[in-house]
Amino acid sequence: MSSASNAHYGGYDTPSYPVLGDAEFDFIRHVVSENAGIVLGPNKRQLVQGRVARRMRELGLQSYEAYCEHVRESGPEELVGLINALTTNVTSFFRENHHFEALAAYMLPEALKRNAVSRRLRLWSAGCSTGEEAYCLAMVALECLPPSQRWDLKILATDIDSNVIAEAARGIYPLDRVSSVPEGRLCRWFRRGARSEAGNVRVRDTVAQLVTFRQLNLLRDWPMRGPFDVIFCRNVMIYFDQPTRERLVQRFAQILAPGGYLCIGHSESIHGGIAPFKLLGKTIYRRIGGTHDT
Ligand SMILES: C[S@@+](CC[C@H](N)C(=O)[O-])C[C@H]1O[C@@H](n2cnc3c(N)ncnc32)[C@H](O)[C@@H]1O
Repeated sequence: MSSASNAHYGGYDTPSYPVLGDAEFDFIRHVVSENAGIVLGPNKRQLVQGRVARRMRELGLQSYEAYCEHVRESGPEELVGLINALTTNVTSFFRENHHFEALAAYMLPEALKRNAVSRRLRLWSAGCSTGEEAYCLAMVALECLPPSQRWDLKILATDIDSNVIAEAARGIYPLDRVSSVPEGRLCRWFRRGARSEAGNVRVRDTVAQLVTFRQLNLLRDWPMRGPFDVIFCRNVMIYFDQPTRERLVQRFAQILAPGGYLCIGHSESIHGGIAPFKLLGKTIYRRIGGTHDT
């Protein structure tokens, strides 16, 4: 089961699950770390137990031993199911809003100047979960673009979890998920669902058509070339170990335009992998020097 619903509604471990043995816990931790970079410490045993138990139920399997065997035998297929079950997808519209304020105040104005000839803007929500972050990037960009000019604006939104990508692409959210969006933005960028969509809002087409959702494991090859003007990779690296974070930060530097920005989550930092970046504000890094080299 995708943890999107777990994340939003809580309660992923109940005492009724069978007990996860050491060997199975270690196997699952190893597979998830090797394939997704997600480090599950010993304190995550309960979480793994609960989420894997739900996945087992979906598959009609009775024991963790049988489930681990299934993962070994089915290869990449169940790897997706396992990773989907264990990702943490908490997110919200305009989460850590100071990043969106900085986007409007200087990240986009600088990019508009830098790209005045090409009139091309590329933003990336890396680890986008259910899409809120990517749609917010699109909304703020639309608010910042000079109305008299045509710009080639695209937002790429990626996540390893195939379930959240499917949910994000629908662009439909229950009303309580937009309760913190200011009224002006709510009216401008969302429309209220009617009939079968009553009780929900839908992101307007002007916003949705700018965003492309793709499943992508940040640890593997990236099919896109960049350069990106802004990358948001927030509350994703927190799940990785330090060497993985450092490698990822270097790769972000390579695919960012010089002068472009990387925003990370409030509890994350990139010391150690900081070389081509200057810390500009709270968890906001500017790519300095060099050329775009992909
Ligand atoms: C807590 S959410 C963050 C969502 C959003 N960026 C925010 O800050 O609100 C973390 C997301 O990172 C994704 N993720 C974890 N490991 C990943 C990987 N190796 N490659 C791509 N996405 C990954 C998870 O699936 C999850 O949706």
